[in-house]
Amino acid sequence: MCGIVGYVGKRPAAPILVEGLHRLEYRGYDSAGLATPEAGALRVIKTEGRVQQLRNLIKEEIPAPVGIAHTRWATHGEPSDANAHPHLDAAGRIALVHNGIIENSDRLRAQLTAEGVTFASETDTEALAHLIGRLMAAEDAPSLEEAVRAALTKVEGTYGIVVLDRDNPDHLVVARNGSPIVLGIGEGEMFVASDVAALVRHTQQVVYLDDGELAVVRSDEFHTSTLAVEASPVVKSPTTVDLVVDDYELGGSTDFMSKEIHEQPTALARALSGRLNERFATAHLGGINMEPRELRAIRRVKFLGCGSSYYAGQMGAQLVEELARIPADAEPASEFRYRNPVVEADTLYVALSQSGETLDTLAAAQELKRKGGQLLGVVNVVGSAIARECGSGIFLHAGPEVSVASTKALTNTATSLAMLGLLLGRVRDLSTADGKRIVAGLRRLPEQVAEILAQEQAVAEVAARFADTRSMFFVGRVRGWPVAREGAQKLKEISYVHAEAYQASELKHGPLALIDNTMPTVVIVPDDELLSKNIGTIEEIKARSGAVIAVTNAELPEGLVDAELRVPRNETELDPILFTIPLQLFAYHLAAKLGRDIDRPRNLAKSVTVE
Ligand code: F6R
Repeated sequence: MCGIVGYVGKRPAAPILVEGLHRLEYRGYDSAGLATPEAGALRVIKTEGRVQQLRNLIKEEIPAPVGIAHTRWATHGEPSDANAHPHLDAAGRIALVHNGIIENSDRLRAQLTAEGVTFASETDTEALAHLIGRLMAAEDAPSLEEAVRAALTKVEGTYGIVVLDRDNPDHLVVARNGSPIVLGIGEGEMFVASDVAALVRHTQQVVYLDDGELAVVRSDEFHTSTLAVEASPVVKSPTTVDLVVDDYELGGSTDFMSKEIHEQPTALARALSGRLNERFATAHLGGINMEPRELRAIRRVKFLGCGSSYYAGQMGAQLVEELARIPADAEPASEFRYRNPVVEADTLYVALSQSGETLDTLAAAQELKRKGGQLLGVVNVVGSAIARECGSGIFLHAGPEVSVASTKALTNTATSLAMLGLLLGRVRDLSTADGKRIVAGLRRLPEQVAEILAQEQAVAEVAARFADTRSMFFVGRVRGWPVAREGAQKLKEISYVHAEAYQASELKHGPLALIDNTMPTVVIVPDDELLSKNIGTIEEIKARSGAVIAVTNAELPEGLVDAELRVPRNETELDPILFTIPLQLFAYHLAAKLGRDIDRPRNLAKSVTVE
């Protein structure tokens, strides 16, 4: 959610920090700030607003070769200059940036206030800065590392933190518990960030901290240890990330959402590459360490994810039921983690996450592991917390997704789940002929997605016609239902137009009362066994003067609908993947017509690492 950058090396830190924040802005964008040591003090520049506003405040060169920086998505305390990070202790010696939530901050604040500390902000983070500062002000003062360790024993909650000591500015102390932290290894310089996006311009050599670990980072070395007061060293070797700075550049696109929508044919081709086997009419998923015997023993599949990843899971559940005839369902990980779910030994649980950092999904995965559930991860970001928690699964290979609204990751998730369904089907009852049919259908997807994208102008015109609507329904049946949900979600999050998804079959059981000539409905109409039912739904809407936009690959009766978004034909099981694409374009162009900030929708952040 928030973004962290730290630097210790030989170059002036400030430009590196600001550039790093710029790369992380998609994670949170309501305030930004940095701290560097200067002439025996700490220089802190911070402001409410975007990173560009921070950049504008830096009027002169700041020479210090060390510093920390942060971009914030508010949790405790409204967006304001005072609440922006870094936060300082009372003596102005310690500067700290923090991602996550300190759950006992009210208690800590009350204790510290009673001891005479005056707080400068409303944040939960500031209490931790004071705790560290007070330990370091003691007569037999510990090192910064020891003080951080000791202060963290008093903290409940999640954190990724970086701490800078004015009096010892040759190193940074970093700690992780539930919020990602990665170290970047340069030549005579070291970087710290909450996301590799901030590092790839400088280095491909990274070290991921795990939960419960602390690192002391100097320009030419780092050492890692456990967070416990009685710490033990942890040896960690750098890994090479397969990402370059261009992956995070707009190139010729106006925004990341449009760039990522158009990357889908290549992203899909990457997801399929080397994973389809024509001869055995199946999928080869090397990251799933399960024998055919173990796959056959699965009696149920449950997909867990949040937001668009959950809707992709619903598509996956439908695919698994159809292809493998195994009962399957999807549930929001954010709900699952708060119930006391019955964890069955012969159920396969699948955690879905683009970022691999969503706290709700991570918590669900951890709970499942604790209870002995069989768990796979379907994740985009290699090395992320969920990928590591699950240990085996399918990587999406979608490339970095920067836009807050998920597009290519959802498409690659649904496609990966189709491959999982195919694999499960082929060790059970799915025939060779049907397996071959699905393999061929999957192979056609990249080209067909490109075909849909080529009609962008036509979709943009339909979106423009409906841009002044205040509310919309999105309806679909069975395979079309998760498509409708995802379409409504995309529209809501980037255009702020109210959109409600409903099962087409349920419309007449209540919501039909809302239909009139001010309430358009997007109807998902695949040319499948439910076509006549969907046409019936359209007629019911039209009879009440409601406008209908059909997303379809069927030949609909002349004049039936007000607008059509066309989709090419593939195997019906794979329809949800293709039907989602025009709705991305529809939401995008409607939001663009309304002049929305497409990559940075209000109130949202890319990865939700808080509860
Ligand atoms: C919607 C969107 C969110 C995410 C959700 C889960 O466009 O992006 O709904 O899908 O927050 O995120 P991940 O997949 O990173 O776990």
